[in-house]
Amino acid sequence: MRMLRQLSLTPLWLIEVFSWAKSFQANPVIGSKLLNTLGLHVARVIVAHGLFVFRQRLLWRLADSKDRRAFASQGYLLKHDFLPQSQFLALKREAETYQGALRDEVEGDTLAQRVYLTRQALLGLPQCTALTEHRGLLRLLRYCSSKNRIPFFFLENLQQGHLKRGSRDSQKDLHCDTFHPCIKAWLYLDPAELHNGPFEFIPGSHRLTWGRVRWEYRQSLEASLRGKLRDPARYWDGSFRVGDADLAEMGLTQPIAMSVPANTLLIANVRGFHRRGEATGQSPRLSVWMQSRDNPFNPLFTPFPKLTARVFEWVWIRHLAREFPRKEAEGLWKGRTGQFVRHPNVP
Ligand SMILES: [Fe+2]
Repeated sequence: MRMLRQLSLTPLWLIEVFSWAKSFQANPVIGSKLLNTLGLHVARVIVAHGLFVFRQRLLWRLADSKDRRAFASQGYLLKHDFLPQSQFLALKREAETYQGALRDEVEGDTLAQRVYLTRQALLGLPQCTALTEHRGLLRLLRYCSSKNRIPFFFLENLQQGHLKRGSRDSQKDLHCDTFHPCIKAWLYLDPAELHNGPFEFIPGSHRLTWGRVRWEYRQSLEASLRGKLRDPARYWDGSFRVGDADLAEMGLTQPIAMSVPANTLLIANVRGFHRRGEATGQSPRLSVWMQSRDNPFNPLFTPFPKLTARVFEWVWIRHLAREFPRKEAEGLWKGRTGQFVRHPNVP
């Protein structure tokens, strides 16, 4: 029976090799010890990086040369005072007083409250709508994604240490998100400081150096381990964690904390090593969070970013709806109607 199931799923697993799929656990082809010994994972990494650079070169008109150079060399962009002050304050007020459907997500002892800003959710949120249509922002994100993609937008309110009996927040471990370059971005509505845990990033760690290729190869072999050889404490989803000795071997520094004032835009290539910085207090951190991930093996980018954004939204809404019952049963997600938690430990 198990064999029949494996046979029927093999075509899907093979197709997924040419997609953004990254789990060594869920896909036995991606997680094959033999294929990774022969270099499957490393080949995926190299091809995905090459195509990312290729597409970005074609999209050069979307960003000025200073931003292109900074993003290529550091792996992130920071833009202080991104919105005019009056627009920023109106956006912050709208987000702070948001009342409606939201999702509480448990990430260790961190409470992450998120509102997915779909076209439906944006009705009655004029400031959020204006941000999702901000020409300069969209052009930068379309360039940085390398896919001409308009990202998903979320309101996100993070509060570390909120859940007293929570386990360790895995986002605080230094990691890369996946095997291919892709972006996440935040427009901070609260200042991001040590008391609420700023984003931390190692500048230049997104680059595919020879040291990184060797490290990826070793990681892929370890991630291909099966059965009892598999360390239960380790991540097997393809978001590799990195330790100090590995960083030293790759010639990388320790991460820097992106402590920034409110109204700062941060765009990061989360192929670089990063983590959620440890908060010294329990203040919330409210932001507009953006992300786009796409098939890294498609050498083309969409010529119709708005239409593509609608299609991705349609797909993503259904994906979240499918995921919800399982996540809810595991106690990780909870849907409710209300406001964001804006005071320490007041649910
Ligand atoms: Fe991450």
